Amino acid sequence: MAQYDVVFVGFPIWWYREPSVIDTFMEAYDFGGKTVVPFATSGGSGMGDSAANLQTLAAGAKIAAGRRFDANTPADKLADWAKQWL
Ligand SMILES: Cc1cc2nc3c(=O)[nH]c(=O)nc-3n(C[C@H](O)[C@H](O)[C@H](O)COP(=O)(O)O)c2cc1C
Repeated sequence: MAQYDVVFVGFPIWWYREPSVIDTFMEAYDFGGKTVVPFATSGGSGMGDSAANLQTLAAGAKIAAGRRFDANTPADKLADWAKQWL
């Protein structure tokens, strides 16, 4: 993890937020000084409190405004969106 400045954290929305396994992932690493970019798929719900939850778990990180995508979003659309961070 130490070699990355920007970390994309992607997950499905479960019950209006990130799944608990994502919280476990966030707790497992030091994100201090990094930019974390959350993104999610869902059946229709938005990101809910996901970004705020990630911020709590990675206090030293800059959590970027997250974005929710439809579950069937094509890879090229995701790539276009991701480019702004790279
Ligand atoms: C346990 C569970 C909870 C879910 N909760 C939500 C929800 O609150 N809002 C929503 O729009 N979709 C919800 N979904 C739908 C998932 O977000 C959707 O299936 C997922 O983004 C598609 O990715 P996947 O193909 O990796 O499952 C839920 C799905 C599961 C299995």
